[in-house]
Amino acid sequence: MMEQDRTPGIVSARPEMTAAIMAETGLDEALLHDIVHRFYARVRSDDLLGPIFAARISDWGPHLERMVAFWSSVALMTGRYHGRPVAAHAPLPIAASHFDRWLALFRETAQEMCTPAGAAHLIERAERIARSLRIAVAETQAGPGAVPSLA
Ligand code: HEM
Repeated sequence: MMEQDRTPGIVSARPEMTAAIMAETGLDEALLHDIVHRFYARVRSDDLLGPIFAARISDWGPHLERMVAFWSSVALMTGRYHGRPVAAHAPLPIAASHFDRWLALFRETAQEMCTPAGAAHLIERAERIARSLRIAVAETQAGPGAVPSLA
């Protein structure tokens, strides 16, 4: 069987794993595309998060495409995303409350659009990445020397 047959519409760096995840979760590229688009429509009209995105993103097409590639890499292990999420968030004026709201909107969207297994798969990964981004952003905001060096 050709790689493309197992992951229709995309070429995965790990086609067997991608096919197994798709079968278990009901997720695929088309669904991730729709989830990302619905999620960011919510984000953009949210009072807390909307202005932060509006100040930085004027052309939403490339951002949405990058976010579909990101979720394809994270959820389906396709290796489609190459970027630096920590560097992108470090300079943003965000704290725990922003991550809480982001996750609330993400959970709501995933639960509406996915099977229970698909929603659980996405939410678990979103929570894990949000936690590491939150810590990285807080460390950047604290600046060098905020944590005493053990050296
Ligand atoms: C606290 C809430 C968040 C806000 C306000 C936020 C805002 C943004 C903004 C404004 C950008 C565009 C940066 C730029 O192009 O200059 C961005 C990029 C991105 N965000 Fe977030 N974000 C948040 C949380 C998250 C979380 C929880 C994830 C992942 C689970 C995430 C994943 C990404 C990714 C992958 C990019 C693209 C980075 C790149 O490759 O350039 N964000 N975010």
